[in-house]
Amino acid sequence: MAKILVLNGPNLNMLAKREPGLYGSLTLDQIIANLEAKAKQAGHELETLQSNSEQVLIERIHACYDQAIDFIIFNPASFSHTSIGLRDALLAVGTPFIEVHISNVYQREAFRHHSYFSDIAQGVIIGLGPLGYEVALYAVIQKLSART
Ligand code: DQA
Repeated sequence: MAKILVLNGPNLNMLAKREPGLYGSLTLDQIIANLEAKAKQAGHELETLQSNSEQVLIERIHACYDQAIDFIIFNPASFSHTSIGLRDALLAVGTPFIEVHISNVYQREAFRHHSYFSDIAQGVIIGLGPLGYEVALYAVIQKLSART
């Protein structure tokens, strides 16, 4: 059994209310409940955290150093485009991660076209809506089973 951490950055607690044309009508709780069921079916444990605070996210990533988190699924939200601190935290702990974006950031403003995470992620899933989290989980499960 592996431990997978699903991290979500700022404003993702507003899913379903926030720009539903871009982000869909599922709440973050609904998305997480689906992931928890799928992870359980595959025999893995899921831990989740959404925070609007860069500090809280950095500290949660630091805790991975001692906590044996096998994989992170991370939607850094707006911090994707700004946070060298979160990038450095992920580099510091070395935990593999997949970056997820619900919307297709390349169809949006130019400032969303650069992410501080994509070049250090194992993979990047963009523009599939909430399904992107499920695709990321599927990839993580495959990667974990290839490892054992
Ligand atoms: C996002 C895309 C980011 O540009 C934006 O700031 C978000 C959500 C996405 O999931 O599509 O908050 O990460």
